[in-house]
Amino acid sequence: MPARVSCGALRATDEGTAAQLCGWVNRRRDHGGLIFVDVRDRDGITQIVFDPSAACFAAAEHLRNEDVLRVAGAVRRRPAGTENERLPTGEIEVAVDELEILNRSQVPPFAVNSDDPVDENLRLEYRYLDLRRARMQENLRVRHRIIKALRDFFDERGFLEIETPMLMKSTPEGARDYLVPSRIYPGAFYALPQSPQLLKQILMIAGFGRYMQIARCMRDEDQRADRQPEFTQLDVELSFCTQEEVLETMESAMRYVWRRALGIEVGDFPRLTHRESLARYGLDKPDLRFGLELAEVGSIFAETDFGVFRAVAQGGGAIVALRYPGGAALSRRDFDALTETAKQYGGKGMVWIALSGGAPKSPAAKFLTESNVEALRTAVAAEIGDAILLFADERAIAYAVAGKMRNEVGERCKLRATDVFAFAWVTDFPYLEIDETTGVPAPAHHPFTSPAPGDWELIDRAPMEMRAQHYDLVLNGYELGSGSIRIHKPDQQRRIFEMLGMSPAEVEERFGFFMRALDYGAPPHGGMALGIDRIAMLACGEETIREVIAFPKNQVARDVMMNAPSRIPDQLVHEVHLGLLPSARAHDS
Ligand code: AMO
Repeated sequence: MPARVSCGALRATDEGTAAQLCGWVNRRRDHGGLIFVDVRDRDGITQIVFDPSAACFAAAEHLRNEDVLRVAGAVRRRPAGTENERLPTGEIEVAVDELEILNRSQVPPFAVNSDDPVDENLRLEYRYLDLRRARMQENLRVRHRIIKALRDFFDERGFLEIETPMLMKSTPEGARDYLVPSRIYPGAFYALPQSPQLLKQILMIAGFGRYMQIARCMRDEDQRADRQPEFTQLDVELSFCTQEEVLETMESAMRYVWRRALGIEVGDFPRLTHRESLARYGLDKPDLRFGLELAEVGSIFAETDFGVFRAVAQGGGAIVALRYPGGAALSRRDFDALTETAKQYGGKGMVWIALSGGAPKSPAAKFLTESNVEALRTAVAAEIGDAILLFADERAIAYAVAGKMRNEVGERCKLRATDVFAFAWVTDFPYLEIDETTGVPAPAHHPFTSPAPGDWELIDRAPMEMRAQHYDLVLNGYELGSGSIRIHKPDQQRRIFEMLGMSPAEVEERFGFFMRALDYGAPPHGGMALGIDRIAMLACGEETIREVIAFPKNQVARDVMMNAPSRIPDQLVHEVHLGLLPSARAHDS
């Protein structure tokens, strides 16, 4: 047989040579007595032709999509007018004189040769077929290039990649741990890492100075489009560094990845303090692909007759305004639908004002004076033809709802192009925030984060006012990553645990090993972790990270191909000294 070439390799210049191809039947067409087959491999598609005079013609008549072939034959130009400009191999075809059917395929449950939408669970159940499709092949290539570029970048800068264990003790990152029962130690458990946080800090104490890892992390938390129970971080830590050095390193890494893996030069990385980000965009992960900055307009309504607004303005709440470009053209029903969306985001409602030239239209029109409307228009730089949306509530809620609605308006106005990459830094986070589920103050990042240098003295007096040396990298409205300068003095670390209500015994039980490490000359250090799945998702223009992970869990945390999690024989449960509660057994039926 002639030498094997990939299905993306042959060109017009190969005319007259002999070639061998291996791949899958992408499509078969019987036409004018000839059989045409598109053969596909990871590099492309080549058209092969079976002439009725060929010995293998009869076998070719039975070829079906996804059968696996080896063929050999002469490369020839396609007849004039039948070239396919969309394929790099579209000028040639291979006239087959040898055919070997390496394997047959069942009829696939969905078309592999098109990108037509398919139910996601079906795609995930037959992931090996889904991964053959062009989109997934491309996404996983982009992901590979991103990870390769990251490793190259950090290697060039003297970072060592060091693996940290999967079986370890809990590191708190705000989620539940996945636990692994020990067979050897009855009743004891390993925790799978939520992140390598403490180990990378220990690597700094161990003197490595510059560490990176493409690290797998596991968190048992609610699923979202940008969350998986198991995900991959670019994890980085540096010793003797300032916050500025971490930001510079990560920013340069992103520029390098975008240039090397995607061929794109990214623009500036504007910096916003947490407070500024909330005031201008309502959220701590602003989408800076578009403007539409929010404006606080409570003072405009201090004297209004509109009871709802007056109560909020006078009661210490906030009224936040958002411009909707071209929104005056919306119908009342459109505005009703937007109001419903605002309610789903946790708002009490929404007041809209349509600026269509004459008197403004609004459900609150009779309460709005001309000067009110003029002042609002100026506050959000709205023009005739726009609408203004108003959210009145407790301050934090009004801003959060307005921020989410800003994204909604950005989406509707097509301001969120997937080929624009707007990075931003958000810095100066508060140290503590109220945990959504428990209602108790908890670190906005993690308890190893250092407070802002001047804020230690607030720890007793006003802990909620403490700021942290904590920074986030944001891209197109997603949190790509978080990091901080760490606490490296053991007494300060104890002080933080104490503020969080942990007893010395609890500290010893959970973090004794780490506290001892801090006692042996820990250098000042800091770092960051970025979500690689999120980077790949945005780089590929996808809407969920499941599209850039080869074998993700579905939306309810199941692997539907392997059927995991799954029941195991009682004997194996007993071997790790466990028994199932009746409630778990009831799930069986
Ligand atoms: P953090 O918890 O913010 O920080 O995680 C860093 C980044 O990891 C990604 N990420 C996830 N991606 C997919 N699915 C998930 N369930 C998930 N959870 C997090 C996000 C996130 O921004 N140890 C610290 C970092 C540090 O301080 O250096 C940490 O893990 O993109």
